[in-house]
Amino acid sequence: MKIAVISDIHGNLLALEAVLEDLKNASPDLIVNLGDCVSGPLWPEETAAILRETDWPTVRGNHDRFLIEDPIEKMGPTDAFSAERLSDESMDWLRTTRATIRVSDDVFLCHGTPDDDNRYLTEKVDGPKGHLPDEETLLADIRSESAPVICCGHTHIPRVIHLSATGQTILNPGSVGLPSYEDDHPHRHKMEVGSPHARYAVMTRSGKDWNFQERILSYDWDAASLEADRNGRPGWARALKHGFYGPLS
Ligand SMILES: [Fe+2]
Repeated sequence: MKIAVISDIHGNLLALEAVLEDLKNASPDLIVNLGDCVSGPLWPEETAAILRETDWPTVRGNHDRFLIEDPIEKMGPTDAFSAERLSDESMDWLRTTRATIRVSDDVFLCHGTPDDDNRYLTEKVDGPKGHLPDEETLLADIRSESAPVICCGHTHIPRVIHLSATGQTILNPGSVGLPSYEDDHPHRHKMEVGSPHARYAVMTRSGKDWNFQERILSYDWDAASLEADRNGRPGWARALKHGFYGPLS
């Protein structure tokens, strides 16, 4: 069994196209999407048009939820940009996404933590940047979820974490479309993966164990950066081009 795990596309059509091309070589049995599909000052509708034609089990990210639940005037600029451009068909498709998905007895999918799409699982933020949480924190945050493999996104930082106490593995594939950002939840901080590549992961079962592979792909990030700049978002433009966010605003 081979599963491709993609997350946090954020409306970056060019990065998604690079992933789709790479998936032809990876030829997984299943592709799953951990959410934050279309929010971004890039190509939200064009990205949604591709995703809604797939049969990928898709988790609802916090930004997907904001697009569905909030009126435009209450949205931040990134979600508002996307909401103004999404077709009714794409909004209907977003409503089909689910808070969590159990793929099998082995594999559980969520966006943030198993019970909160807007909380980091694989990063702890107690300063201006995230870092690896300790095992006790991780065990507390997965609550009673006992699947051997828990896949999550939301932080945009790829990680594979093994929990010695339970034998579980947490996989975060990183972000297809946004390698760094700043955010003010729970307080002002930034996440930076340090390169502009599109990322996803492939996990393969071997007997009762799983092996994990990170896929790190070049694509035309200069064009994505230019599009963000054209849409009035210099922070996004810098993040897309470099994978570093730079100074917090
Ligand atoms: Fe995200």
